[in-house]
Amino acid sequence: MKLALLLLRLLPPEISHFIALNTLNFLYKLNLTDILFPYEDTSEPFNFKSLTFKNRLGIAAGLDKNGDFIDSLGSLGFGFIEVGTITPLAQQGNPKPRIFRFPGQGAIVNRLGFNNKGVDYLVKKIKLRNFSGILGINIGANKTSEGQKRINDYVECFKKVCPYADYIAVNISSPNTPNLRSLHQEENFLPLFEALNFARNEMKYHNPMFIKLSPDEDEKVISVILAAIKKFEFDGVIASNTTVTKDNLRYSGRHNLDGGLSGKPLLKKSNELLKIAHSHDSHLLKIGVGGVDSKESFDSKLDLGASLVQIYTSFIYHGPQIVKKLLR
Ligand SMILES: Cc1cc2nc3c(=O)[nH]c(=O)nc-3n(C[C@H](O)[C@H](O)[C@H](O)COP(=O)(O)O)c2cc1C
Repeated sequence: MKLALLLLRLLPPEISHFIALNTLNFLYKLNLTDILFPYEDTSEPFNFKSLTFKNRLGIAAGLDKNGDFIDSLGSLGFGFIEVGTITPLAQQGNPKPRIFRFPGQGAIVNRLGFNNKGVDYLVKKIKLRNFSGILGINIGANKTSEGQKRINDYVECFKKVCPYADYIAVNISSPNTPNLRSLHQEENFLPLFEALNFARNEMKYHNPMFIKLSPDEDEKVISVILAAIKKFEFDGVIASNTTVTKDNLRYSGRHNLDGGLSGKPLLKKSNELLKIAHSHDSHLLKIGVGGVDSKESFDSKLDLGASLVQIYTSFIYHGPQIVKKLLR
């Protein structure tokens, strides 16, 4: 397994991502994932509203943007899988190269820019799934959508996916779609929250809705948005998306590293956001994500008030074995 991961690292990141996940799908279809990647899950289930999470570990948004790998990822033991970010129309994302790996530091910088096959494709894939665990769907807006059109994009995705979503994550925090993070400002998030609230009532959607936050905003901004989340009776926050700060990353400066940093160097920053969110509202559900690659970092999120934890970067570097390590 270690050798396979090392060999994959020799390839450009997006090609190795493609090969790794398609190999996983292939193994799943041959019923081999249980044999090759056994795990023991002694976790207590976690209940929230009408949902039962068989354990607290999930896969974060972005790894399976289009819902192509739900069953095979699910077979590895995750209690929940978040697919997306999905946008109404398919889009290519930013020019390559747009993913940079720092294996020695357990970090990744990406500026993918919501490359995805569009919401209709995702819905088709979701309908075909066998995975019976919790499925979260992360929604966003197309790159060229501005103002009311941007809000309409979220609403369109919401309406199309809500019949199939155990929860919906509203992504306002990707650093790679121009101006998206301006949705942390009250004048921008209020119309979005109103529109989503209206759509939720119209669609009679009663499952949870979470807002995915940036770790790069200050406490004042976060406290205003938390108050609005409560007012609109959304259910919680996902803390956090990637950071644009590269202070914690050692690199030569040869590359343009515009984009979001994830993995180990994000742990502290994402934990700070979690702490702020928990101190402002201990009742909101928190999904902690950022830099989890060990039992200690996993537990640090729970200790700071998270009820659920997600991973992305450590899954890239450690493969399916990480599930076993974190659920132990
Ligand atoms: C290559 C890559 C793509 C990502 N794409 C998305 C995305 O589409 N939507 C989203 O909400 N977060 C996305 N993320 C952020 C992750 O979901 C997660 O919040 C972040 O990576 C921190 O977790 P980690 O340190 O375990 O990787 C992406 C992260 C990476 C590394």
